[in-house]
Amino acid sequence: MEILGCSEELINVIADINRRGIILAVYFKKEIILLLPQELQLALDGLVAEVPLGALQAAAQRLSLQYRERRFTPLSDVDRLAYLVTRLPATFQAIFQALSAVKKRAPHLEMKSLLDVGAGPGTGCWAAADVFPSLEKTTLLEKDSRFISLGKRLGMGAATWLQLDLQREFSVEPHDLVLASYSLGELREAALETVIKKLWNGTTQALVIIEPGTPAGFQTIRYVRELLISYGAHILAPCPHANKCPITEGDWCHFSARLQRTFHHRHAKEATMGYEDEKFSYIAAARIQADSEAAPRIVRHPIQQKGYVQFTACTDEGIKKVVVTRKNKELFRRAKKTNWGDSLS
Ligand SMILES: C[S@@+](CC[C@H](N)C(=O)[O-])C[C@H]1O[C@@H](n2cnc3c(N)ncnc32)[C@H](O)[C@@H]1O
Repeated sequence: MEILGCSEELINVIADINRRGIILAVYFKKEIILLLPQELQLALDGLVAEVPLGALQAAAQRLSLQYRERRFTPLSDVDRLAYLVTRLPATFQAIFQALSAVKKRAPHLEMKSLLDVGAGPGTGCWAAADVFPSLEKTTLLEKDSRFISLGKRLGMGAATWLQLDLQREFSVEPHDLVLASYSLGELREAALETVIKKLWNGTTQALVIIEPGTPAGFQTIRYVRELLISYGAHILAPCPHANKCPITEGDWCHFSARLQRTFHHRHAKEATMGYEDEKFSYIAAARIQADSEAAPRIVRHPIQQKGYVQFTACTDEGIKKVVVTRKNKELFRRAKKTNWGDSLS
């Protein structure tokens, strides 16, 4: 379809709009894509407006290579701006999905304070504020002073930024929700256990760790999961049990979050599609048990055929194939709307 010279990928239909007429989400090929909060998008566009597109493209390529090769050397100023354009929207969606899974599993948890660890430009605060409007206090730990300045300029309300290196001596004040997104994988392996112990000791309600949805990212998550279980934590999501992880060698548990590519994002990546899918792995654990029993978690794209939907789900008996046929009308209707990452209830 061509409308006024626009390709189909660039045309979205409003899926959600708030009372002030601000668009919150759009449909793209029947899938809903949540947009970044408008204030964040505007602030971000303002920060990158002056950067020549060529410089942004080169920085986005450097950044992507650096993350693929897991080289976590300090970034340049333009690399950090490329992070805002190409990575922040992706990590925002991953955080939003992981926190939404926590809220769904434990709706009784009332989060008043957030600690965002390895906060970068503060992505986690924005996503957490969307999922938990009850948040009143936010603390961000970050070692890079330039990311802290950018985070402050993005304008996340009243927040306390602390510049520190997690691999050195530091202490954690208790917070209801402790979040580390895409940051723990940057630490030396030897430092991870001490950091997780400190974060868990500083968690009064839930601890959520998110890493890239790659084999290496999943290895970190699996290790953190084992540590948390050994501390007596209750696993909230994505696992529906605290048994040994049933994912076999060569495979990795990960999920996918769709995001819209803005003008700068598309140009920075020299991309034509109006969206991309961010793959992520995560683990969420709570101090107290959730009040409902966990349902199997869908760990692959469901296969939809005419009379049935087939799921691959993680259950307390391991990874299972579950088939829902149209014989069971109500279940089949719900199954057709159930996606990868959802629980099968
Ligand atoms: C990939 S960014 C993630 C930023 C943000 N959490 C997000 O999800 O968009 C990783 C962040 O962790 C920070 N980081 C890495 N090692 C750290 C350490 N030892 N102490 C504090 N922050 C660290 C980096 O400076 C960077 O800002």
